Amino acid sequence: MRQPSCCTFLPLLLLSATLCRRLDADDGRSSCRRCDLQLFCNCSHSRFIHVPLVTGHALALDLSSNNITVVTDDDLTGHRVLRVLDLHGNRLSTIHPSAFDSLWSLEELDLSDNQLAALSHNWFRKLAALQRLNLLNNPYRYLGSPSVFYGLIRLRRLAFGGPALEELRRGDLCGVTQLEELTVHASNLSSYESGALADIWPLGRVTLSIQGPFITNVTLASAVLADVSYPETSIILKDLHLIRKQSLLPIKESTRRRVRYLSLQNISLSDEAVIGFLMVTDGMPLTILSVEGLTLTGEGRLEPATRTDHSSMDEFFVRKLVVIDMFKFAMTGNLGFLLQYQRKLSLIDSQLFLMSCQTMQLMMSVQYLDLSDNLLTDLTLGYMLCDEDEPLKDLRVLNMSGNILKSLSTLSRLVARLTKLTHLDISRNGYSFMPSSCSWPSTLRFLNISRAKLTTISPCLPTSLEVLDLNNNDLSAFTLPLPALRELYLSGNKFLRLPSGQLFPNLQTLTIQSNTLNTFGRSDLMSYRRLQTLQAGQNKFICSCDFVAFLRSQLKGDGDVKLTDGEDGYVCDSPLYLQGGPVGRVRLSVVVCQRVLFVSVSCGLALFVWILICVLLWKLHTFWYLKMTWAWLKAKRSSKVRQRRKAKESSEALLPFDAFVSYSERDAGWVENFLVPELEEPRETGSQPLTLCLHKRDFLPGQWIMDNIMSAIERSRRTVFVLSENFVQSDWCRYELDFSHFWLFDAGGDAAILILLEPLSKDDVPKRFCKLRKLMSSTTYLEWPQEDEGKEEFWRSLRNALKGEDEEDD
Ligand SMILES: *[C@@H]1O[C@H](CO)[C@@H](O)[C@H](O)[C@H]1NC(C)=O
Ligand SMILES: *[C@@H]1O[C@H](CO)[C@@H](O)[C@H](O)[C@H]1NC(C)=O
Ligand SMILES: *[C@@H]1O[C@H](CO)[C@@H](O)[C@H](O)[C@H]1NC(C)=O
Ligand SMILES: *[C@@H]1O[C@H](CO)[C@@H](O)[C@H](O)[C@H]1NC(C)=O
Ligand SMILES: *[C@@H]1O[C@H](CO)[C@@H](O)[C@H](O)[C@H]1NC(C)=O
Repeated sequence: MRQPSCCTFLPLLLLSATLCRRLDADDGRSSCRRCDLQLFCNCSHSRFIHVPLVTGHALALDLSSNNITVVTDDDLTGHRVLRVLDLHGNRLSTIHPSAFDSLWSLEELDLSDNQLAALSHNWFRKLAALQRLNLLNNPYRYLGSPSVFYGLIRLRRLAFGGPALEELRRGDLCGVTQLEELTVHASNLSSYESGALADIWPLGRVTLSIQGPFITNVTLASAVLADVSYPETSIILKDLHLIRKQSLLPIKESTRRRVRYLSLQNISLSDEAVIGFLMVTDGMPLTILSVEGLTLTGEGRLEPATRTDHSSMDEFFVRKLVVIDMFKFAMTGNLGFLLQYQRKLSLIDSQLFLMSCQTMQLMMSVQYLDLSDNLLTDLTLGYMLCDEDEPLKDLRVLNMSGNILKSLSTLSRLVARLTKLTHLDISRNGYSFMPSSCSWPSTLRFLNISRAKLTTISPCLPTSLEVLDLNNNDLSAFTLPLPALRELYLSGNKFLRLPSGQLFPNLQTLTIQSNTLNTFGRSDLMSYRRLQTLQAGQNKFICSCDFVAFLRSQLKGDGDVKLTDGEDGYVCDSPLYLQGGPVGRVRLSVVVCQRVLFVSVSCGLALFVWILICVLLWKLHTFWYLKMTWAWLKAKRSSKVRQRRKAKESSEALLPFDAFVSYSERDAGWVENFLVPELEEPRETGSQPLTLCLHKRDFLPGQWIMDNIMSAIERSRRTVFVLSENFVQSDWCRYELDFSHFWLFDAGGDAAILILLEPLSKDDVPKRFCKLRKLMSSTTYLEWPQEDEGKEEFWRSLRNALKGEDEEDD
């Protein structure tokens, strides 16, 4: 056996695809690569004439609607994991007996609409996992023995037969024990061995399409129905065109076996056939009768059956009722007697435009009335719910979806008398206006006005509502408080923002998809106190940073409100560069999103750098240097001016002060108590008093301090610096020192005298006071002795120095 090994063992579909193509060339088999991520391979409608090569990893393989005529023994080898194989709608006439042998995992096999003229039990012998098998509409005339289904112990859904099936024998279904669903098409069945279908139990649903036997062989049809009818089984009879009363007799087999659910689909009945049906179900415990696609060919003359009993019929469902001769039927037809017992009544999509008030009054027990998709108008509805009486007094659910009603005030007035009404569905009608007030039954909880043309809402809406569906209208605002509301549907409207949650203190579910919402946020959701689920996709979202961040956290499931409509619905509409991107996956730059953070960080950084520079400058004493340079420049200029003036007034050559004393304010005590008295009023006779310039005393008030200093230095012959720690700390003293230095330099004299008030070495002076350091190393200084005996000597030396005498101090 040749293995398409590439498909079986390579995990990468792409790679396998490439290799498969290579294999194609080898044996001419085409391949199909249309597999999705769930490994569902859709190879239908592709004109394959052979089973194509498909990856061995495929879980489902759809080969329907091709032109495949044969399945060979190695077409499907290697598909050990395949669960679903669909060969519906090919031209299959030959299947190799072991074609399906390797499909151990197969759960669903569809061979319907092919050309299989005979079934082989060999096909299915290895399919122990098979749950669904469809063999409909093949030209086999009998199933064949031994039973083709033998060994299919898991089988739950089986469909077989077709126009060609003629014969069903006992044992044909041997091996089929219980089914959820059995479908038999046997419109041409001519031979049925009683009991052929009888061994299947429990049996959930049986669909029979056996038109032929119903018409030509009532006994045969009865035998079939008798074999499949159990009280808990739903019987569906399809495709019947019945005229004679007797044709309905087989149904008696079902009703006799207390079948409770009967459905007729695609069926046409004459008056006589209807009477026949009513007779066979007369007094039977049929609970639900469902009719879909019923054509009534008669005129509604049902008199012989009007006394039949259908009191067990709880639900009567009719969809797509067509009355051929509508006019005559309306005149004579009187089906009212049929309608008095049901609690659930549906007459859907049946072109109903009027029902008489009397008929409505017959519906004594109806609690659920579905008249959707008909032609009812406000006027005819008025006739039906005839004004004066109280029909439908037990009615709880009224469905009039898809009619042509237009006036809400008329409707509300009509239904106000239905005092038990809780559900009202008036969706898909022509309502375009909501009156300012309406009267509703106080019991109304559920109102559906979706797919209308409402542009505004009004207090017409009753406050008792718990569920309100306003989908697909033209609303743009909701301002009405509805305290009891639990569910609100507003999709397909024109809302720009979420309605305020304060209006709905009990709202649990809000659906507002496909509107024009730009954004919403945590605070919007917070205003809803009980909200649990929200669906707000397909809106025109502006993807701001806040919104994106908020929505992501919501989608992740943070917060009390769950977004239940999937993240793919939330798509950015703007800004332009994000348009179409799912909100959950778009990337927004930090500069846009963390603007505040960004600005503060950059400001902080700038501030930090600024402070750093300042600190650096301060550490390097740049300010001091700048200040000094500035002061120096300024002082130099004023000094030049003064010198020019002095040159003019040469008479003033005499200097008024002997010495300018520069000292720190902290050393003022020493200056005032010792220096000044000692020099200006000497106790020693013979010493001349000297005149000192002290900034405290002799500076001109109002002048710039620099000028004062400059001029003081200029007008003094000498400058005495009282050096101490304090001096070094004081800026002004430093200026003085500096000016004096350049003055000394300019004057070219030995004009500075240094007094050390406390021991201070050159190294104690900070490096940047280079002038002072230089002065200290070049100029001799006087030290203020700590003991008394040295003081005399000190004063003398000082006085000498001031007088300009060459006297040295050690
Ligand atoms: C199948 O083949 C027949 C003739 O061989 C052709 O007429 C028909 O169109 C084909 N059907 C499809 C679906 O390709
Ligand atoms: C129905 O059965 C008859 C013979 O019993 C046969 O001649 C006829 O072709 C069958 N009809 C179909 C549609 O197969
Ligand atoms: C309805 O039943 C008739 C036979 O009575 C059949 O020819 C027709 O195809 C059926 N229609 C549908 C939609 O099943
Ligand atoms: C009313 O009928 C429509 C259409 O048949 C259906 O979609 C809707 O669910 C029904 N409403 C109720 C309340 O049953
Ligand atoms: C309201 O009616 C529409 C249309 O008939 C239907 O699709 C929808 O499910 C109904 N809403 C609710 C909440 O049942």
